[in-house]
Amino acid sequence: MSTNSSPPAPVRPATKQQEPPAATLPSNQTTAALEKVRKTTKSAALYDEARTLIPGGASSIIRWASYEPYPIYMESGNGPRLTDVDGNAYLDYLLGYGALINGHAHPKMVQAISNQATKGVLFGTPVELEIELARKFKQMVPSADMVIFGTNGTDATMNAIRIARAATGKDMVLKFEGHYHGQHDYAMISVEAPPSVAGLEEYPRPLPYSAGIPSLVLDTVIVSPWNNLRAFERIMKRHRNEVAAIIMEPIMANSSVIPPSPDYLKSVKEIAAQNDALLIFDEVVTGFRVAPGGAQELYGVTADLSTWGKAMGGGVPISAVSGKKEYMDLIGPGKVSYGGTYFANSLTLAGALANLEVLSEQDNYHFKVFKELTNKLTAEVSRIGDRAGQDICVQAAPGMFSLAFTKLKKIINYRESLLIDWNKYRMLTQLLMNKGIFVHPDNYERLTISTAHTEADIERTLLIFEEAFRDLRDRYN
Ligand SMILES: Cc1ncc(COP(=O)(O)O)c(C=O)c1O
Repeated sequence: MSTNSSPPAPVRPATKQQEPPAATLPSNQTTAALEKVRKTTKSAALYDEARTLIPGGASSIIRWASYEPYPIYMESGNGPRLTDVDGNAYLDYLLGYGALINGHAHPKMVQAISNQATKGVLFGTPVELEIELARKFKQMVPSADMVIFGTNGTDATMNAIRIARAATGKDMVLKFEGHYHGQHDYAMISVEAPPSVAGLEEYPRPLPYSAGIPSLVLDTVIVSPWNNLRAFERIMKRHRNEVAAIIMEPIMANSSVIPPSPDYLKSVKEIAAQNDALLIFDEVVTGFRVAPGGAQELYGVTADLSTWGKAMGGGVPISAVSGKKEYMDLIGPGKVSYGGTYFANSLTLAGALANLEVLSEQDNYHFKVFKELTNKLTAEVSRIGDRAGQDICVQAAPGMFSLAFTKLKKIINYRESLLIDWNKYRMLTQLLMNKGIFVHPDNYERLTISTAHTEADIERTLLIFEEAFRDLRDRYN
C-alpha cells in the first residue's frame, strides 16, 4: 500500500514545537507580560489538564497551536464581547474564525435555537425549516440554482469536488497554493508548503499538509500559484483534458487577506470552461460576509459550484454546496452520494435561518456598515502602524482584514505571504490580548468584524492598537 510519510514542517513558526523565535521576548518575559496585565491562571490550569486528556489540549489544533504560553479559555460571549474563565473581557475579532457574523448570543438566534430545542433537534427526516432556509439562501445568493446543506466547510468542499468528478468523468483537481479548503485529503495539499521543497513558484509541487495522506491522492491534485494567470494557463495546458475541478477561495483568506487581481476570476472561469473543468468557488470565509451573495456577488463572477459555511450559520454548524441545476441534479441514489446524520438538523436550521434573517434585515444594510467599518479600521490601523515606525501591510475585504509586518506594500500570493515577521505579529497579538482585544496569534488567521461591532468598539480598538504598537516599538525593535 502506498502511503505518504510525514509532510514537510509547516512554514509558520509554532513556538511549542519549533525553533525559538528570532527576535522576540524570551518566553518567561512573555509569560510575565501576560500575567502582569491580566490574570489568566485558570486558563493555564485548564490547559495543563486538557493536555493530559486531549491530544494537544483541544479538539482543533488551531485552538492551541501558536498560543504562547497557553490558549485562553473562554466562558461566555455577548455581542462583540468575550469573557474568559478568569473574568477578563475582550472585544472579539476572531469571532469563531469568522462564523459569528452577528456576534455572540444574538437574541434572535438564541430564541430560535431555544424554541427549536424544546421541539426536538434531530428527526432524521426532511423538515420544513430546510425549505425555508433554502429559500432564504437563494434570496441572498441569487446566482445559485439549487443548494444542499451539510455540517462544515470540509464536507462541503469534499462533496463539491466529488460532484465535479462525477460531472466530468475526470479525476484531477486543481487547487491553488496557500488556499485552505478544510481537512479532507484532497484539500490538505500545499496549504502551507515550505518554499524550500515546494518547487517552482510558477509550477508548485503538491505537498501534503498532514501526515497520513496517501501519496496516490497527491497524484490527483495539481497546484497552481494564485493571481498568476500565465502560470495557471500553462499548467492547464500541460494537463489538458485531465482536470475535473478547479477549486479556489475567490478572495484568498487563509494566507493573509488577498483579493483577486482585476479580471482574474473571470479569466480563470473562461479557461475552466475551455477545458471542460468545473469551477468551484469556496466561499466558506467570504460567503455572507463580503456581500450577501459572497465574493461572486462582489466581483460579478459566478462559478459552477460553490461552497459555504461559517457566516452562513452565525455560529451553528452548517455548510452548503450550491450551484447549477445540471450539476446539483447529479446527487441521488446510484449517482453522487450525499448525506450525514447531522446534515440539516432542525436545531442548526433554526439557528442558521435566524442568523440570515438578522443579517439581511433592512435590505442588507449591515453589508454597507461592514464596508465602512472595515475601511475605517484598516485605514486607521495602517496609519497608526506607520506613525509607530512599523513596516506593515494591511489588506482587507468587507468585514475582514489581515495585518503583516513586512516591507512589501502589497501581498498578492502565497509565496509573498511568507515574507512576513510571524513573531512580531505574535508579540503584537499578545499585547492586544493583554489590553482586551481578542485576535488569533497566527498571522494567517484574518481579523473579522460582526454586525454587533459598533463605531464605539472600533474607536476603542484603535486606541488599543495605538498603545500596542507603541509598546511593541519599545520592546521589540
Ligand atoms: C476557505 C475555507 N474552506 C473550507 C474550510 C473548512 O471549513 P470547516 O472548518 O467548517 O470544516 C475553511 C475553514 O477555515 C475555510 O477557511
